Amino acid sequence: MKTNKIAVIHGPNLNLLGTREPELYGVLTLEDINNSLKIRAGKRADIKFFQSNAEGEIVTRIQSCAGFNGIIINAAGYAHTSVAIRDALLAVNVPYIEVHLSNVFAREEFRHKSYLSDKAVGVVCGLKEHSYYAALEYFLKE
Ligand code: DQA
Repeated sequence: MKTNKIAVIHGPNLNLLGTREPELYGVLTLEDINNSLKIRAGKRADIKFFQSNAEGEIVTRIQSCAGFNGIIINAAGYAHTSVAIRDALLAVNVPYIEVHLSNVFAREEFRHKSYLSDKAVGVVCGLKEHSYYAALEYFLKE
């Protein structure tokens, strides 16, 4: 069986999940979410996890994902600002799903715009940790 390689990339401040504004982002830690993704995938995918607060590190990580079957990315605040992350995703040419824990469209106007959405396979937001789980299910569908 061909290995389904999936990268899960978390952007800035997501290392604080669990204590960070739980009404918006839920009560699970990043480790809880990663563990749950791993369990859900089981033998169906090899998932590589990455979190960084630094834009350039996220760009470098995306560049290393050539040949992966999919990227699940929560670029956090950088979704609304980063041409560099958009460019890296397009350069590496791996299908990606943009996720957000909170419903960005129910929040401040500046969160309504994302540099990643128009080129994404899909966008999932507002379901807290289930945004990630839904994205994973899509990549496991074949
Ligand atoms: C977020 C939404 C962003 O607007 C915010 O800057 C984040 C988290 C989310 O998961 O809901 O840091 O990406």
